Amino acid sequence: MDTELIRRLGHVVGDAGLVLGEAEQAPYVEDWLRKWRGRTPVVVRPRNTTEVSAVMRLCRQTGTPVVPQGGNTGMSGGAAPDDSGAQVILSLNRMRRIREVDAVNNTITVDAGVLLADVQRAAREAGRFFPLSLGAEGSCTIGGNLATNAGGTAVLRYGNTRELALGLEVVLPDGRVWSGLRGLRKDNTGYDLRGLFIGSEGTLGVITGAVLKLYALARGRVTAWVGVDTPGAVVGLLSHMQALCGERLTAFEMMSAHCLDLVQAHVSGAVQPLDGRHRYYALVELSDTAPEALTELLEQGLAQAMEAGLADDAVIAASETQSQALWRLREGISQAQVRAGKAVKHDIALPISRLAAFIEEADAALAEDFAGLPIVNFGHVGDGNLHYNVLLPLDVAAAEYGRLTAALNRRVHDLVAQRGGSISAEHGVGQLRRDELRRYKSTVEMDLMLLIKRALDPDQLMNPGKLL
Ligand code: FAD
Ligand code: MLT
Ligand code: ZN
Repeated sequence: MDTELIRRLGHVVGDAGLVLGEAEQAPYVEDWLRKWRGRTPVVVRPRNTTEVSAVMRLCRQTGTPVVPQGGNTGMSGGAAPDDSGAQVILSLNRMRRIREVDAVNNTITVDAGVLLADVQRAAREAGRFFPLSLGAEGSCTIGGNLATNAGGTAVLRYGNTRELALGLEVVLPDGRVWSGLRGLRKDNTGYDLRGLFIGSEGTLGVITGAVLKLYALARGRVTAWVGVDTPGAVVGLLSHMQALCGERLTAFEMMSAHCLDLVQAHVSGAVQPLDGRHRYYALVELSDTAPEALTELLEQGLAQAMEAGLADDAVIAASETQSQALWRLREGISQAQVRAGKAVKHDIALPISRLAAFIEEADAALAEDFAGLPIVNFGHVGDGNLHYNVLLPLDVAAAEYGRLTAALNRRVHDLVAQRGGSISAEHGVGQLRRDELRRYKSTVEMDLMLLIKRALDPDQLMNPGKLL
């Protein structure tokens, strides 16, 4: 790249805002999974929206492609540059300002580079609750959450990131700023631009700020770990608990016995909560602003579920520490998987009523066509999202990994599509699913997306090679 452009970028963001050395760039050019590694001439770290705007103008003038990046925890390779060495990484990691908390309006306004955990903390300090929650919350940014429309563990009660955002501020590819930071719950003044930028994975503009919804802070939560025999019983247990507890059911996660084995083998301090072994485990959580009868309600629900054959055994956490230990088992799966092998990851969504039949059918199909490969099946059953992964050995040859990945994706995703599901529920398309997308989206839908892309980013400079 032209050293003159780097000099001009430095003039905008200051010397501390440029990352130039190979060693210093290492955490930016490779993703969390260590699956995608590219090259960049420079990582640019603006401090505010005005600087982002100036950076975008310079990149537009010089025809320089831009890869927006938050915490770089994405699972689809969306924040990694390609290996051309031409793509500038625009990192939001110096934009960490909580701009305003409006407790009466139940909103918080933040810079896009604020860590998700810091948004949660700021809400809590104001006596409110920001419900988005995921394993990477200590390192992912709210901008990345918005750009991927992240899901996580509270979607069944509060919805995904799109449903938690009321307004956005976005810098367009030509450097203009769209100030849509409205804290309104009603606003029918035209197209839903906010909804368009959410989930656009850095391909339409740079999200620099957001107004997010806050909720009442729960004063009590109870967590149970439940042993279950079949996928049908897992879904039956979910239905039963939802009918009994309504909105007090705030999490319902599932993992197979194999996932628990992996966590026990690869995450220190992981302890099996039940004596016997069960094919599946559900992590069930109730929370409420009025905590008084929560434990009784959970006990009642689980006792009824056992009587109905929907659960085999269960333990309720007796303290917050025990509850956190149960959550660590669930949240340890990603790390355990990375240590145990090379995962062929899937992030699928199905109508909840079709989940159990899908699992039975996919298990049988993989047992026949890919005999002996361990399935790592876990996910957010409460909202119909499964990570139906397959684990290959750590030393699998690259060519074999590529061949099996393509074959497994085709087998699993075709089954998902037949049942009306999605091949990317919460992680986004990025580089990972870009080519597959065409197989499962109609021509009309692809054409509409391309039209939008061309209209907003005519020079194709925003995150090239991702999503479309
Ligand atoms: P990045 O990885 O930096 O970027 C992701 C995408 O967003 C890229 O395409 C990037 O170009 C774009 N982008 C980032 N910031 C901006 C911006 N300001 N403007 C425009 N585009 C931008 N995800 C879930 O949905 N649910 C989970 O339960 C979940 N659990 C996880 C657990 C672990 C241990 C890990 C490592 C990841 C998990 N993820 C999960 C994936 C990941 O954390 C989310 O996708 C998260 O939203 C990414 O945020 P980030 O700031 O790291 O974004
Ligand atoms: C999860 O639910 O834990 C995540 O989405 C991360 C993963 O799939 O590894
Ligand atoms: Zn997930």
